[in-house]
Amino acid sequence: MSNSVFKIAALAGDGIGPEVMREAIKVLRAVEKKFALRFDITEAPVGWAGIDAAGKALPDATLALCKLSDCILFGSVGLPDRDPSIPKEERPERAALLRLRKEFGLFANLRPVRLPKELAHACPLSKERQGDGIDMLVVRELTGGMYFGQPKKTEDIGNGHLRAIDTMVYTTPEIERIAHVAFKAAQLRRKKVCSIDKANVLENGVLWRDVVTKVSKQYPDVALDHMFVDNGAMQLMLRPTQFDVMLCENMFGDILSDEAAALAGSLGMLPSASLGATSGEQTFGFYEPAGGTAPDIAGKNLANPIAQILSTALMLRYSFKQNAAADAIDAAVSKAIANGLRTGDIYSTADPTAKKVGTREMGDAIAAAL
Ligand code: IPM
Ligand code: MG
Repeated sequence: MSNSVFKIAALAGDGIGPEVMREAIKVLRAVEKKFALRFDITEAPVGWAGIDAAGKALPDATLALCKLSDCILFGSVGLPDRDPSIPKEERPERAALLRLRKEFGLFANLRPVRLPKELAHACPLSKERQGDGIDMLVVRELTGGMYFGQPKKTEDIGNGHLRAIDTMVYTTPEIERIAHVAFKAAQLRRKKVCSIDKANVLENGVLWRDVVTKVSKQYPDVALDHMFVDNGAMQLMLRPTQFDVMLCENMFGDILSDEAAALAGSLGMLPSASLGATSGEQTFGFYEPAGGTAPDIAGKNLANPIAQILSTALMLRYSFKQNAAADAIDAAVSKAIANGLRTGDIYSTADPTAKKVGTREMGDAIAAAL
């Protein structure tokens, strides 16, 4: 496979998307040289950039490019303050991001959270609570639950009152397939799954717990426990080291993965992979930093490109099965951090070896470390 050309659709999007994407592509070019791989990278507009370029958050040409590619490397989309006259269904979050997730059946979202020891100061928890280090994987279901359930609408109920409805729906096959992803991931880690639900209140929670428990019987080597989501949120603060794989439905995973990312020092450190069903050898994947567009710092060379760069490592691992190259990117990131390089989000004056750098300098250092 090492002689093949990997076709990547690079959709940088809005806010800090373009500048962190630039650094990720820089790193991929360095990987090409070192590992004799070839990446055919085509950039296309999405989000507000898509609306500006072609009148749609997901332009037809961008979607067509994605369909012709082996995977999507995504930046971020959505600028809350832009053009309130554009209806919510056409705004980038729904019309581009959620649409792509659905279009490509990307039901499994993997968000690895790791706090490097050099960044212990950036974690809001005491050293004591950080224990031997935080290293967990959030497995989030991504195409079901309240994000997509129907009915979903706001209706007029008279007397000037409105009613908004979102519907939480899960079927057993949807729960089964994401549970398998979590148990398989746990087998490659510390062999523990903590499944999150709200079985004390929600029908969905009862079914979730039931199905996950049944699937667990196929993985006798993996220990399963269950936690209500409110307790899960609290346990992340109190004793985060207890978690190995945390399995969540869509909405709970959205919330808890941001909370977990804060433990890793910054949302700017959190990569993610969204995977579809595997057919034959191929799994279509979508790789993006879990943080948002950060419009306040966009275009100022302040953004942390590490989440985007680590997302390319996930891409090499899951879509292209190039583990050595993926490991090299992870190691290059670790080296830049060990050498004291810090973007503003992970910088602390308490660390005398730290050197504050911009987006570009961080990308250069990581590419050079390869
Ligand atoms: C995420 C984001 C998205 C989500 C938004 C931008 C729609 O928060 O990927 O976590 O809620 O899934
Ligand atoms: Mg989120």
